[in-house]
Amino acid sequence: MPIANAKDMLLKATEEKYAVGAFNVTNLIQLKAVVEAAIAKSAPLIIQASVAPSKFLGPKVIAAIYKTIAESAPIPICLHLDHCNDVEFCKTCADAGYTNIMIDASKQDFAENIRQTKEICDYCHEIGTISVEGELGTVSGIEDQVKVAEDEAQLCDPEQALEFVDQTEVDIFAPAIGTAHGVYKTKDPKLDFDRLKKIANLINGSQPRVPLVIHGGTGLQPDVVKRLISLGGSKFNVSTDLKHTLIDTTYDYISSHRNEYNPGKIDAVVKEAIKGRIEYWIELLGCAGKA
Ligand code: 13P
Repeated sequence: MPIANAKDMLLKATEEKYAVGAFNVTNLIQLKAVVEAAIAKSAPLIIQASVAPSKFLGPKVIAAIYKTIAESAPIPICLHLDHCNDVEFCKTCADAGYTNIMIDASKQDFAENIRQTKEICDYCHEIGTISVEGELGTVSGIEDQVKVAEDEAQLCDPEQALEFVDQTEVDIFAPAIGTAHGVYKTKDPKLDFDRLKKIANLINGSQPRVPLVIHGGTGLQPDVVKRLISLGGSKFNVSTDLKHTLIDTTYDYISSHRNEYNPGKIDAVVKEAIKGRIEYWIELLGCAGKA
């Protein structure tokens, strides 16, 4: 398929009330698992690379692998830079061929967040059809180099959300509503559903124009995930689940095959385990068959 634009993909999801899975990967095995699962389920897909894996492999290498896979895949696939708080690196990844850039200036004050987000929007819209995600309020926990303590996290103000979206012309918007990166301490984390509803009404009430992102997917119960989608979340980020699957599966395999030295066998087992998790998420998000 031609290279996909995340905004168009997510506007369709917003209208039809499902969410597209945005899965963080750190290596080629995970990437292959995510793509194979999405193809098996005929689901649109957003592959996410945070700053550390993007720097480790190199943006041009990641973008080249992505392009080769995406162009021959029977489903639309985007490549997203996740939570980048470095304006210059956002531009480097946009130049390299990422199709979606998240500038995370959410730790800055409101005016500076708007300034940096607008700078990346102007840059990305100028060089092509690259969509930009911005965040307002802060999501607690750790995602790559972005760390926010629980007592520091701030929820997104709905009126400011509208101002942020209008002033920056951001394509996709991540409001902090109480979800967190990493593993939740309780089965029933306190999320502000009313806040999400208000933000969705203010921004997309008359017609969907800026799709909303739910960060911190790992550990949310299925009924909670469905409620967040029904209230307007159309991009659903999942990272920790896949990291745990990768490490736990590798550990278990090596523990029970201590004298085997065949990396290909470990890769195959890890790939299948991650595929299983992605297929679970795709069904839950309601995006199976939506490619
Ligand atoms: P989890 O690690 O909690 O799944 O969150 C992922 C995320 O929001 C990436 O941006």
